[in-house]
Amino acid sequence: MRRETQVKLIRELLDHNAAGTTQLADDMLVLPAEVYVSEHHWQAEREALFRRRPVVACLAGAVASAGDFVSLTAGGVPLVVVRGDDGVLRGFRNVCRHRASSVVSGCGTGASSLRCPFHAWTYRLDGSLLARPQAGEGFAETDESELGLVPAPVGEASGLVFVRPEGGDPVNAAELVGDAAQDLGDFGVGQYVPFDRWESSWPCNWKLLVDTFLESYHVFSLHRSTVGRYYLSQPMTYQGYGPNLRFQTCQKSVLELAEVPEDEWDLLSRATVEYLIAPNTILSHSVDHFAVYQFLPTAVDRTDVTMTLYTPEPPTDRTQRHYERTLELHQEVGADEDFPQAVKIQQSLDSGLVDETLVGRHEVALIHFHQALDELLEGGNQQAGAG
Ligand code: FES
Ligand SMILES: [Fe+2]
Repeated sequence: MRRETQVKLIRELLDHNAAGTTQLADDMLVLPAEVYVSEHHWQAEREALFRRRPVVACLAGAVASAGDFVSLTAGGVPLVVVRGDDGVLRGFRNVCRHRASSVVSGCGTGASSLRCPFHAWTYRLDGSLLARPQAGEGFAETDESELGLVPAPVGEASGLVFVRPEGGDPVNAAELVGDAAQDLGDFGVGQYVPFDRWESSWPCNWKLLVDTFLESYHVFSLHRSTVGRYYLSQPMTYQGYGPNLRFQTCQKSVLELAEVPEDEWDLLSRATVEYLIAPNTILSHSVDHFAVYQFLPTAVDRTDVTMTLYTPEPPTDRTQRHYERTLELHQEVGADEDFPQAVKIQQSLDSGLVDETLVGRHEVALIHFHQALDELLEGGNQQAGAG
């Protein structure tokens, strides 16, 4: 994030703080319970947001070299993105052409081929079928050249890798990043390398988990004995970029900058800056790392979460323990504090006795998120990011 942006954000925060105000949306948002509990609504989201629209697969650093791969399941479609020997990034359905098991799990580096664990059908990095050990004459009537992995279009921009789960239209990654590209470029997102990841699964709607990242209003209360000791609940300011957005949670020490000359102002050492890449990915930058959260729903009330910690460079003996602890801290705050709130909300809404929830005018980024999803759903028949 460039200096003038940091100074502008700090100025806004200090002005709001001095005046006792915060950024406000024009209106409060009354959010019908259906958006979280309706099977019908989920089916529409699955089609428009998670299958026909490309989703973030990973940061580019996770697939930088030949044989690096990352798998994920979006909208129920198992997918893998992999860098070929020829340097080309490709996407495929992570579905074996034998009996449809998953070819790979999780992520990996430097693979020479992709081998299904069930009966060892093996695919080249370009997806073509390489071998079927011990198959004998079992598949004699098939044409090997037609049994490659099914391609899924991919695209890269601003250090983000996107994959389209369904349909063959090309992925316009730059369009999907939109005006967030400037900041992400300044951060050098494409240079970050994966450190480790945390996978978990939660019995709630995917949006309830995303929601916890888009307002800091709860910090003074929910996180009062953890990060709430260092972070401000308000003022909250955000910037929308089409369906994407930037939101920052500031440390209390930002307020000290009111007494510091402007040319010494530095936001990034005093704030967590988050980018939502619609619909389901949060890039959360703190000081020396990006935590990339991918919320991957498997049902209206079930969500798999992958959090990958990316660092500016590979860990050294000196930084290894620090980054392990950083990952643990994210886990503690997410698993012990934020995500259980999402589960409790789901339980309340599942009672059928709650018609709606209220999003305050000051929860501006949250309002932007839900309104952007509505627009994406309405435009769901267009192949977003194509061309
Ligand atoms: S299902 Fe993959 S080898 Fe049999
Ligand atoms: Fe939180």
